[in-house]
Amino acid sequence: MYVWKDRGKLKVSTMDKIRASEPVPEQTIDPEATAITKARYDRIAPVYDLMETFEERLLFRKWQELVWEAVDSAKEILEIGVGTGKNMPYYPKDSKITAIDLSDRMLVLARKRAEVLNIKNVDLLQMDAQSLEFPDESFDVVVATFVYCSVPNPVLSLREINRVLRPAGKAVFLEHMYPENPFLRLIFDLLNPLTVRIRGANINRRTLANIQKAGLEIRVVKNLTSSGIVRLIIAKPGKEERDELNFDCNTQSIH
Ligand SMILES: C[S@@+](CC[C@H](N)C(=O)[O-])C[C@H]1O[C@@H](n2cnc3c(N)ncnc32)[C@H](O)[C@@H]1O
Repeated sequence: MYVWKDRGKLKVSTMDKIRASEPVPEQTIDPEATAITKARYDRIAPVYDLMETFEERLLFRKWQELVWEAVDSAKEILEIGVGTGKNMPYYPKDSKITAIDLSDRMLVLARKRAEVLNIKNVDLLQMDAQSLEFPDESFDVVVATFVYCSVPNPVLSLREINRVLRPAGKAVFLEHMYPENPFLRLIFDLLNPLTVRIRGANINRRTLANIQKAGLEIRVVKNLTSSGIVRLIIAKPGKEERDELNFDCNTQSIH
C-alpha cells in the first residue's frame, strides 16, 4: 500500500524546478496532425498489445494498480485514450465510466475486451481529447495512461480535462517523461522521430509542464522508475495557467 496522499512536502527535484523549456504550442487543433495521429493508431491497433515486452507487461500492471488505487471508487470516471482497454480489468464496478479514443480501430479492440471481461459499466466513444464533447464539470476523476506522449496538442487536451472535472475532482496520469539526465535527453531527442513512427509516442514531451500550462494544479508526482522517466501524477482542477513549474512533490521511487 503506497501512502503518497499522506506524505508531506518533500524535496523538489531539479527537473521539477526548471522553467519549462518547451515552447507553448498554438492553442488550436491542428487537423492534419490529428488525422496523422488517428491514422497511426488505426494502423498500430492490431499489433499494439503484441508490441509490449514481457518486462513492460509486468511493470505496467504494477503501475496500473497505483493509478486505480488513486482513482478509488469515484462515481463518474472519464478515461482518455483508452486504446485497447488495458485499464479495463481495474475499472471500479460501481462507477459510471466513459472511455474515449481517437482511433476507431483501437476502440474495436477495447469493445472486444469489455465483452470478454463482461464489463457493462463503460461507454466507449470515438472522440478527440482536444475537444471533449461533455459539459463542464461532468466527471469526478479523469484517467490517462501513456496518452500525453501522443495527443497532438497536449495542452489543449489537458485544458479540456480541467474543464470537465468537477471542482472536487482529480486527474490521474501515468506518463512517460523527458529525462532529467542531459545525456539521456540527447538520446531521447534523437530517438523521438523513430518512436513516434513505430509507436506513436513522443518520448521527449514536458508533460509536467504541460499539465501546469493547462491550469491543472499538480498535487502528487511519483517517480516510478529510478530515472524518473515514468511518473504517476495527480492533479486537481485549477484556474491559473502557469508557464513555470512550481510545486512540491514526492519524488520517491518505487521499484
Ligand atoms: C500509447 S496509446 C495508450 C493506450 C492506453 N491508454 C494504454 O495505456 O495502453 C495512446 C492512445 O491515445 C489515443 N489518442 C491519441 N491522441 C488522441 C486524441 N487527440 N484524442 C483521443 N485519443 C487520442 C491513441 O489513439 C491511443 O489509443
